[in-house]
Amino acid sequence: MAQMSRFGKLPQLLILLLLHLSVFASAGTIAGRNGAKNSRQAACTNPIIRKEWRTLTQEEQLDYLSAVKCFLEKPGLTPASVAPGAVSRYEDLVVTHIQQTMDIHFVGHFLPWHRWFTAVYEKGLREECGYKGAQPYWDWTLDVNPPSNWAKSPVFDPVYGFGGNGAFVESNGPNDVPGRTGGGCVADGPFKDMVIRLGPMDDLSGNPRCLHRDLSPYFAGRYLGMNQTILTISQPDFGQFTRVNDGGPSFDDSGLHGGGHYSVGGTFGEMGDLYASPSDPIFYMHHTNLDRVWWSWQSRDLQNRLTDISGPQMLMDYENLQAGNVTLDFKMSVGLNAEDVTVRDTMDIRGGYLCYDYDSLY
Ligand SMILES: *[C@@H]1O[C@H](CO)[C@@H](O)[C@H](O)[C@H]1NC(C)=O
Ligand SMILES: *[C@@H]1O[C@H](CO)[C@@H](O)[C@H](O)[C@H]1NC(C)=O
Repeated sequence: MAQMSRFGKLPQLLILLLLHLSVFASAGTIAGRNGAKNSRQAACTNPIIRKEWRTLTQEEQLDYLSAVKCFLEKPGLTPASVAPGAVSRYEDLVVTHIQQTMDIHFVGHFLPWHRWFTAVYEKGLREECGYKGAQPYWDWTLDVNPPSNWAKSPVFDPVYGFGGNGAFVESNGPNDVPGRTGGGCVADGPFKDMVIRLGPMDDLSGNPRCLHRDLSPYFAGRYLGMNQTILTISQPDFGQFTRVNDGGPSFDDSGLHGGGHYSVGGTFGEMGDLYASPSDPIFYMHHTNLDRVWWSWQSRDLQNRLTDISGPQMLMDYENLQAGNVTLDFKMSVGLNAEDVTVRDTMDIRGGYLCYDYDSLY
């Protein structure tokens, strides 16, 4: 494998953050580039219902997986001048995530942006690949008791799931994800022969390779249990809620967000790459559950929490030294994948641009 400075490697990440902070300090926000008109959809009277992976019928699971494969095969729209490595519609979204990585993590709009991004993916599968269902979610709390169950999660099933771990790769790096057990190419399942081209990190030039996973049952047990989930949803306001969910950039301050990334991606897997993590289709299963955690938190006091937003516009700028906090009018873009929206447009999963619901909440 190429030199991969991973999400998990704190020193590299910090150096990057400093570099990017100096570059972006004066670059303003991610305000939409194309000024697309915010034409709202019709009222949401018949939301599609997102369900937990293991509650889908086998037929529904296979339908979903074939829609993902279709999206992987559909010719992309990203010009080669922007991302020579991007070939498919699936990769159009990976490009967007890579391009905006330093603008959409450890910020107030982290959850709104990823809610929108996941809904745009769901829409792509439905409208461009004939998928009839809603984006499923992965309730990882069901797979960590005990942690030795982790690799047996139905999500890793070789036929009715996303395939499992990679073969173990020796490594004694000081910044390895604790408890990692894999690192090689995913050896079974529908994505066994998938070609990953984007990344590592912000490289858009095209580096064809296999999909890697490096599962860590220990990490999952520590950060993806009901205890961590309850700690997250018991926070009193959005600012505290999102910080507990985001955690910090090191393993020891992981929240649910980092918990899902490192428990699947470990040191060597794409899910552990802060930039290119949407390369692994499991990304959307994890982020849909994070969205469900947010909606669970919102639903406990909808009246106040449908409009509760705060946190920095700029990466980790918790003291507001570079810019202010995000507000409902803060603009977000997913590039050529959909029109621009504001944070307000994403606050209600059953209103504005969004029209889905969850079958159950925490
Ligand atoms: C949740 O439980 C795990 C496993 O016992 C533990 O490692 C972790 O620290 C706990 N987290 C919280 C927030 O209590
Ligand atoms: C900015 O957001 C943080 C996190 O929610 C909050 O603690 C802080 O009070 C906010 N600052 C302002 C000026 O509103």
